[in-house]
Amino acid sequence: MNNVKIVYATKTRHSKKIALALAKALNVQAENVASKPILGKVDLLFIIGGIYGGTSLPSLLEFVNSLEREDIKRVVFLTSSVKKIQGQDAVRKILEEKEILVEDELHCQGSFLFMKFGHPNEKDIKEIVESSMKLVKR
Ligand SMILES: Cc1cc2nc3c(=O)[nH]c(=O)nc-3n(C[C@H](O)[C@H](O)[C@H](O)COP(=O)(O)O)c2cc1C
Repeated sequence: MNNVKIVYATKTRHSKKIALALAKALNVQAENVASKPILGKVDLLFIIGGIYGGTSLPSLLEFVNSLEREDIKRVVFLTSSVKKIQGQDAVRKILEEKEILVEDELHCQGSFLFMKFGHPNEKDIKEIVESSMKLVKR
């Protein structure tokens, strides 16, 4: 298998749940960006995060800023937000400036107060893990 790593940033633990489920499926560790992980070389990096007021958490932006192009071959975003149209655009912009390839962005239904309450649920997480596994095998 390729060298696959998983990082996540979370405020209300949805991204952590997704990250841990994917980590289990891949038999790797998921790292919280808050602990400032040092990744080394990566073939495929999953960046998992939510959207808050239209953007990503500052800790995630700071982490992504520290990535080096020569260390990261490709990136996939797993994004949980209430609105499916909202993606990790701020993270994408930083990576584009670094010329790090963002191969895909998969969405997982999130929630905010009563909006989409209960999501992501088990089915949402199972689906995004299955879709992610297909990308790993690609
Ligand atoms: C303070 C706050 C602001 C949010 N703002 C947005 C938003 O602008 N757009 C959106 O689609 N979802 C928004 N959401 C929903 C989150 O993106 C969604 O629940 C996500 O799953 C949270 O991930 P986390 O639990 O890993 O922090 C917001 C949630 C919170 C708590």
